[in-house]
Amino acid sequence: MSELIPPLRTIYGEEATSQAQRYAEALSAFASTYGAGEVLIFRAPGRVNLIGEHTDYNHGYVLPVALDRDTLLLARPRSDATVRLSNMEAEFSPRAFTIGPDIPPDPPGDWGNYARGAAQALARQLRRADRRPPLRGLDGLVVGGPPHGVPRGAGLSSSSVLTVVVALALAHVNGWQPDGVTLARFCSEAEWYVGTRGGIMDQFIALLARRGHALFLDCRPDTAGRYRMEHVPLPQGYHLLIADSGVRHGNVRGHYNRRVAACRAGVALLRARFPAITHLRDVQEVPWAELEPFLPEEVTVGELAERGIELEDVPGLTPDTRLRVRARCRHVWTENRRVQAAVAALRAGQVATLGRLLNEAHASARDDYEISCPELEVLVQAAQEADGVAGARLTGAGWGGCIVALVRDDAVPAFEAHVARRYQAETGRTPAIFACRSGPGAGLVIAVTLSEED
Ligand code: GLA
Repeated sequence: MSELIPPLRTIYGEEATSQAQRYAEALSAFASTYGAGEVLIFRAPGRVNLIGEHTDYNHGYVLPVALDRDTLLLARPRSDATVRLSNMEAEFSPRAFTIGPDIPPDPPGDWGNYARGAAQALARQLRRADRRPPLRGLDGLVVGGPPHGVPRGAGLSSSSVLTVVVALALAHVNGWQPDGVTLARFCSEAEWYVGTRGGIMDQFIALLARRGHALFLDCRPDTAGRYRMEHVPLPQGYHLLIADSGVRHGNVRGHYNRRVAACRAGVALLRARFPAITHLRDVQEVPWAELEPFLPEEVTVGELAERGIELEDVPGLTPDTRLRVRARCRHVWTENRRVQAAVAALRAGQVATLGRLLNEAHASARDDYEISCPELEVLVQAAQEADGVAGARLTGAGWGGCIVALVRDDAVPAFEAHVARRYQAETGRTPAIFACRSGPGAGLVIAVTLSEED
């Protein structure tokens, strides 16, 4: 499998040899499921968000970094519209469906829905572009799982990358070649199929990442649908360390949608003073003291309806659902400022300032957005008190998952030992701690022809 090494080196650097082993095993599993012939290998990386949490769906700012942990899809085009997917991880049994504009979903939470969402969006996209069927499906093998895959449910975007990698493959086999931004937008809309009203951050970083850089993304498109973004180099002399609490909350989707609803309620209420606004981003330059009087501490969905405010399109709300509108909006408003300050600090090499902003972002996520949990608090406190740490915060949607810490190179071993010890002592759990080796964005890695002997 020596042909694998050169393309893998451009993606994984020094890890290319161990990755080649992983790719070879995946190819052999593909051959035993689907037989000899051509195979295209696509990959999409997970991400860690440095700062800018729950700002994307408010058209705000984010600053994610792609991981070297990724999901692979080995794919062989079919001549019909069937998609057959198997998974290297045995707990995910095979799925099959036909591509079309209205694909019936698998049960909620099923892994197949991430692929179905991508396929349905593609069929609709091609229909809009007046490209008539026949659509082409594929036979595919998904490769996630440890140690190289994106840890699942950990706030590192494992589900979004599944949509991205399937969309990439289906677009490829159907001859649709959008640019990265178009594909990223497409993938984020495709993911609405699974019932989360998410933003665009995960798909943008998965597709547009650059090694050694964070992506500063302004999630507000201009009138031509373009996005302002900048690849900002990561600080020299520091590691981004990720510590996974191992906590997986069962209802992240429900909590997430309620946060989206609270922000939308904020926008609707602020329209009394700023009639033209569509997102919280539109009041970013207005002093907070001028916004606050319009934002109640708490209001129910039913009370909003009485005032003529309907939160359409957000699943799972009932008239009794309580929304803490003021605190949620305050988080978004302050977080956008922190992201801008963090980018300025990165550009200027001011690591201490960046670290302070991470700590402040964590406090806001905990107190105003209420997306932390006891285990994440233990991890963040342990990280923040360790030597050589500029700052630390929870990362991703919240309610479990991971923290990220900015740690001086020479302090990494002591950091790992301290955080693991304290977390173990206080929760009885062992955290998985690993360094983020930032990698490049998603794409086609290589096309291979498997012979009968492979
Ligand atoms: C999830 C969503 C993102 C973003 C984050 C929170 O990862 O997929 O769009 O909203 O949560 O910052």
